Amino acid sequence: MNPAVIALTDADGLAGAIAGAFGTRCHTAVLHTFPDGETGVRIDPAAAAPDVLVVASLDHPNPKLVPLLFLARILREYGAGRILLVAPYLAYMRQDRRFRDGDGVSARYFADLLSAHFDGLVTVDAHLHRIRCLGDVYTVPAVNVHAAPAVAEWIGACVDRPLIVGPDSESGQWVEEVGRLAGAPVIVLEKQRRGDSDVAVSVPDVEHWQDHTPVLFDDIIATGRSMAATVAHLQRLRMKPPVCVGVHAIFAGDAERILSGAGAAQVVTTNTVAHPSNGIDMTPAISAAVRDMLRETAEDDCRRTGPD
Ligand code: R5P
Repeated sequence: MNPAVIALTDADGLAGAIAGAFGTRCHTAVLHTFPDGETGVRIDPAAAAPDVLVVASLDHPNPKLVPLLFLARILREYGAGRILLVAPYLAYMRQDRRFRDGDGVSARYFADLLSAHFDGLVTVDAHLHRIRCLGDVYTVPAVNVHAAPAVAEWIGACVDRPLIVGPDSESGQWVEEVGRLAGAPVIVLEKQRRGDSDVAVSVPDVEHWQDHTPVLFDDIIATGRSMAATVAHLQRLRMKPPVCVGVHAIFAGDAERILSGAGAAQVVTTNTVAHPSNGIDMTPAISAAVRDMLRETAEDDCRRTGPD
């Protein structure tokens, strides 16, 4: 039986596409904000099926968190069986250690909250750096879908003589994969972050790539400073105007203005966070991962229960 799909908000456009991939309709939770700032959540009880996919991209997560947890509780009370969270963008993964004395490790606290309310998690390119895999912090089955194949396909179709550029060593893991799949050369830069919105990059020897189109690839475009500093630097080196590709289009504050002002030829993102720059569709990869998880967790249940 196909899972029911319910979006946390109307803004989760990907929810409709995922519902389409499963041949089912997309429900949307009804959220009401009371004058005192509290939130009421209502569902169509038909959404509480044996398998439910709750689709919620968790950019700007704080206002979404309470309604999301309430939504899981309501679905459970109405008889839903397995409830999987499909969070194409998973928040808080960059707060993965105690940076200063007294800091909390928010990635772990967030994982605890979600693990307590959902039976599984499917996300896309979670920021795995000091936390090596989702299973280190999530206690329910958790799958990290990679955008690299879809990104490489887009680059192959849309960019002439691409040179894949990673803005920092953390990006090495995904730019190498995109370069390999797109059959394109790769360079990884060194980045120094001096503050939330203050970033400097240095570029290794790029002279012999002058006839290539730089394609900057990063997992997250948040303040846009990492990409903008790289674009500006490549411009000073007289490289062709770069194409900027980000998996998650967070675009906090003035990020769009900063990035277009820096001289990017084009900015393209995947649809994990709804944004006008979305040009790479993650629906097929996410739907395939959800299908696998539904099958595997059903098999696990059978193994635990044993034969009749
Ligand atoms: C860093 O750890 C990430 O991979 C991205 O490079 C970073 O989140 C980009 O942030 P911003 O757009 O604020 O420079």
